[in-house]
Amino acid sequence: MEDNFVNIIGEQFVNESSSLSDKFRALFALKNAGGNQAIDWICKGFEHKSALLKHECAYCLGQMQNEYAIPMLISVLSDKLQDPMVRHEAAEALGAIGSPDVINILTQYKDDSQVEVAETCEIALERIKWLQENERNEKDKISTNPYNSVDPAPPEVVTEADVVSLRNTLLDESLALFKRYRALFSLRNIGGVSAVLAIAEGLKCKSALFRHEIAYVLGQMQNEACVAHLKQCLEKSNESAMVRHECAEALGAIAKGDCRKILETFVNDREEVVKESCIVALDMHDHEVSNDLEYTKTVDRMANCVPSC
Ligand SMILES: [Fe+2]
Ligand SMILES: [Fe+2]
Repeated sequence: MEDNFVNIIGEQFVNESSSLSDKFRALFALKNAGGNQAIDWICKGFEHKSALLKHECAYCLGQMQNEYAIPMLISVLSDKLQDPMVRHEAAEALGAIGSPDVINILTQYKDDSQVEVAETCEIALERIKWLQENERNEKDKISTNPYNSVDPAPPEVVTEADVVSLRNTLLDESLALFKRYRALFSLRNIGGVSAVLAIAEGLKCKSALFRHEIAYVLGQMQNEACVAHLKQCLEKSNESAMVRHECAEALGAIAKGDCRKILETFVNDREEVVKESCIVALDMHDHEVSNDLEYTKTVDRMANCVPSC
């Protein structure tokens, strides 16, 4: 019965006549269903032409934390013809699964010519090292993630967890990205407007990878206080498409105030991933504001969306 459900959703996921938004909903339903069969369906997504869809497939495989997905993720990371945003997400997913078996492959790509891939491998290696060396000691000293996500880095230990010092760490360009990610996830877990505004300052930092993670976290927090910051970033024509895409998805998740209007402005953007993100974000937005009981409030992008099959 359950297998049957997975196959129905899987068919919907690969069906050429399904819209991108339908595919996204099917993808997240497969992620939530879990298991090897769902992974097999998700892997078929890598044959699609949309870099946005492929990167979301890699994201979901990471969130599922099932080692069965490792060979596919390695082959995506190793494929230099693949969009850097997709390769980045594959590397991040390998870090999320957290197996020491991928240390060699991540080390191989930590100096990749695509800087977002290289930086992601560095962070993923740090996460695996942390799992091996520090998780046991720090487990009771870190804040709880109120969201349903596996993060690329753990939060800081609680003693360092006040908004001002975390903000300083977050914005300190001289520190390793892993350390700054830890401050980011600590701030997110603290929550509230002052944490949101501190995080939003990170949209001006040097690393595009870092800026895109900032936008992702702002989407998770769903706080209206950062809408203007996300809008400003989405409007910048010289901003990386990976960052602009994440700003669009964050606006779709926040779904308040001007979010819909802003997304409509970019729904025909010349960057394909930004255009597609706006299409999906408008769908997310409308589910957020609708009272349709089929869709509960989403904190993990579309994690709780159930396809209407
Ligand atoms: Fe990403
Ligand atoms: Fe993304």
